[in-house]
Amino acid sequence: MGWDELRQAVADCTACELCKTRKQAVLGVGDTEADWLFVGEGPGAEEDARGEPFVGQAGKLLDAMLAAIDLQRGDNVYIANAVKCRPPDNRTPEPEETAACWPFLARQIALLQPKLIVALGKPAAQTLLQQEVKIAAARGKLHDFAGTSLIVTYHPAY
Ligand code: URA
Repeated sequence: MGWDELRQAVADCTACELCKTRKQAVLGVGDTEADWLFVGEGPGAEEDARGEPFVGQAGKLLDAMLAAIDLQRGDNVYIANAVKCRPPDNRTPEPEETAACWPFLARQIALLQPKLIVALGKPAAQTLLQQEVKIAAARGKLHDFAGTSLIVTYHPAY
């Protein structure tokens, strides 16, 4: 599946309950040749309305975090989420929801082939590492995702 097919498959997805309450699915945004992949939790209200990840309050901080390391959205950076549809009331996605959405994130990673994956917060870290994660313990270490370096840090909203 290429990017166009993936975008369509995500837009049409009904694999979990989140499809019933979303305005639209949010695939991701950025440079499809990026070295850096940032993975958040799931779209919030603004992301659901605009169809782009991290455009609300947490997004402002993420952009500031990127700027602090001389990066910017769209330039060698791709931003995605563990789930592509907004969990109602911004609740944490359920394990069955992240599991249902996992093939989409896995396909994004396969297409991007980033040099570094940054998991923002626990749901993203647990989805990528497929294990229970304590952020404080997982931070500051280099993890591995199928041969790609992965680091874990706090979610900007935290
Ligand atoms: N928080 C996330 O984890 N992802 C978004 O897209 C927005 C807020």
